[in-house]
Amino acid sequence: MRAAIRFLLLLVGCLALLAWGASALFNRQAMAWAERDMAMRARLAASAASPSLREATGTAARKLLDAMVRDERLMGAALCMRDGRLEVASNGFPTPLGCNALPAEAREADEEGWDRTIPGPLGASHLTVVPMAEDTEPPRLLLLVHDMSFVDRRADTTRRYTFLAFALVGLLGAAAASVVARLSWLSWTTQLRKVLLAPFRATSATAPRRFQPLLSDVRDLVSSLALEEARTESGWTPERLQQVLRRQLGGEGILVVANREPYIHERDDAGEVRVVHPASGLVTALEPVMRACSGTWIAHGSGNADFDVVDAKDHVRVPPDRPVYDLRRLRLSKEEEKGYYYGFSNEGLWPLCHIAHARPEFRSADWEQYQRVNRRFADAVAEESGSPDPIVLVQDYHFALLPKYLRERLPRATILTFWHIPWPNAERFGICPWERELLEGLLGSSIIGFHTQAHCTNFLESVDRYMESRLDRERHSVVQGGRETLVRAYPISIDWPSRWADEAAPVAECHAAVRRELGIPEDALLGVGVDRLDYTKGIEERFLAVERLLEREPGLHGRFWFAQVAAPSRTIIEAYRGLNERVEALATRINERFGRPGWRPIILARTHHEPPAVFRLYRAADLCYVSALHDGMNLVAKEFVAARDDLRGVLVLSRFTGAARELSEALIVNPYDIDSAASALSEALVMPAEEQEDRMRAMRSLVSELNVYRWAGKMLLDATRARRRERLASRLSIGKGLPR
Ligand code: F6P
Repeated sequence: MRAAIRFLLLLVGCLALLAWGASALFNRQAMAWAERDMAMRARLAASAASPSLREATGTAARKLLDAMVRDERLMGAALCMRDGRLEVASNGFPTPLGCNALPAEAREADEEGWDRTIPGPLGASHLTVVPMAEDTEPPRLLLLVHDMSFVDRRADTTRRYTFLAFALVGLLGAAAASVVARLSWLSWTTQLRKVLLAPFRATSATAPRRFQPLLSDVRDLVSSLALEEARTESGWTPERLQQVLRRQLGGEGILVVANREPYIHERDDAGEVRVVHPASGLVTALEPVMRACSGTWIAHGSGNADFDVVDAKDHVRVPPDRPVYDLRRLRLSKEEEKGYYYGFSNEGLWPLCHIAHARPEFRSADWEQYQRVNRRFADAVAEESGSPDPIVLVQDYHFALLPKYLRERLPRATILTFWHIPWPNAERFGICPWERELLEGLLGSSIIGFHTQAHCTNFLESVDRYMESRLDRERHSVVQGGRETLVRAYPISIDWPSRWADEAAPVAECHAAVRRELGIPEDALLGVGVDRLDYTKGIEERFLAVERLLEREPGLHGRFWFAQVAAPSRTIIEAYRGLNERVEALATRINERFGRPGWRPIILARTHHEPPAVFRLYRAADLCYVSALHDGMNLVAKEFVAARDDLRGVLVLSRFTGAARELSEALIVNPYDIDSAASALSEALVMPAEEQEDRMRAMRSLVSELNVYRWAGKMLLDATRARRRERLASRLSIGKGLPR
């Protein structure tokens, strides 16, 4: 636009200069013609008047001169003596131009005469001096003064018309040029789009020469993307993730927003502050990413000593043993926590998104708090952001509105939102009274990630049903208000190698220590389950499968134990309290049914276990049963695999977890089908060592490749691609029309 305005100003300037030059040229020529004309007219008048004037003197001569000046252009006529004296002049002769003002050359004029145009305040005058053909010696001079002011008047008119003509020509020219430019721009972009849409090999040879430099740019971009694509599949490490951030995204730290904090400071009964690692798949996955990338993790400060250890800006450096990133804690009031976390997030969205037969509860008061807290987190991100275009990783269903609020504050931010739980089908999603607002909120993101393609498809169908936006099914994206949001599957994972597995004691040691702590024999067969106490985890179905196993196989009585670690979770919600009671009652019933002195088959530990204790349990187990009824991914399955560097142990895995799509060497079960789940447990307990090793080796190789650095790296690389495409599109200036 600026260039166009500059060009227009230049054009106007040039046209004005041209018009001025042309009118000056024309006026000079007109003056020359007028002078010639006046000289001729003067000589004609002189020769016509000469015979009569020759004889005349005094009054007679004046009368003759008066008769001459009747000509409208002749202002005056006079007879002068050669010495400059006036003999006689016509009436009204302009005195300043009289005989005595004539220069010497005029007084000495021969029969050719003398002419001169002189300027005056009221316009130019033309003087002609012609000697009279008479006997007196020296002969008298006839002086004629012509009015030339008409030349100036004509010059003014000419100048006006010339400017007008040039303006008209300029205008017509500009209009014609803009029509021609528009037409050629259209044809250029059409041809360019054709070239870009066709396969490269087909176009490189045949494309017009003017497109060759651009094509080579695009070709470079495509091949670098292809190279990246190939490289993104394997070999992901913390160092490589750092490189991606450094090379592709300028190396700035990332901002993570998650409700749950990676470290909770709790004061125990003795008044000592200790650090707790929460039981959270999200934290398990994201914490190693933050260690690699550094930056700031913004979370709800939920520990009772959280705000005793922060600085003035509510920051604390973590991990506590080797700090590399900041944890920014947000204080939430009791009402905010109740409405936003317990209410809308966990009584509304959580049951809405999981097929676990719990009724979602949606209350307006909770919704108010949900909006309010999302806004507060958006403010916190804006405060923490050191640039106008930060990279923000928004985590989970607690923050569906945050991407939109954030986009309003930081329009150039790269916002990657990851939804850690399943996304329901469009019909079920419509149960939520604020379905459109949630979708709008999420579409503030640059990229929205889910664990599986099926959840991406459900999301796109929800957008299709409840929003007015353009879906690009080929690119898996939504375009709204001219901005594109990519919808992609990024199966989450754990860090590899796992630091907890690395720090753990050798398997034999864990085997013995765990059995000793549980008070069971050294050779006991041990199955384990590790979960938050949540109704989506299928803990009741798990116990029922153990019960069926014991019904069917009396040989296992007194030999097999199942240890369930269940971390209390969301305990103020009625559904969770009810589950807690049912799980305890079920374990008691089964233990009473089969138990005998020295053997109670189910060991239920409803307390929080720190990661080292959980890893010891994994390493001591003969099998791990993950029986979730519906789960986005389930990282317990992957952690069990990571813990078993001895290649032993069998994973029994619910087919309703995202993990079942990757860990196909596990024994995959339907947890609702108690009989076949019991069969799988039985199969696991007798599986030959060699088969265990084969299965475990395959799963370990997969988890080591598809680790959490790849998860984060792929998202960040997709963000880089999106940024590059935007840049290319703006270079081509064809914006949205560019084929992607
Ligand atoms: O599964 C969703 C999720 O946010 C997980 O990422 C995490 O494991 C779990 O819920 C934690 O729940 P909360 O933070 O409510 O204890």
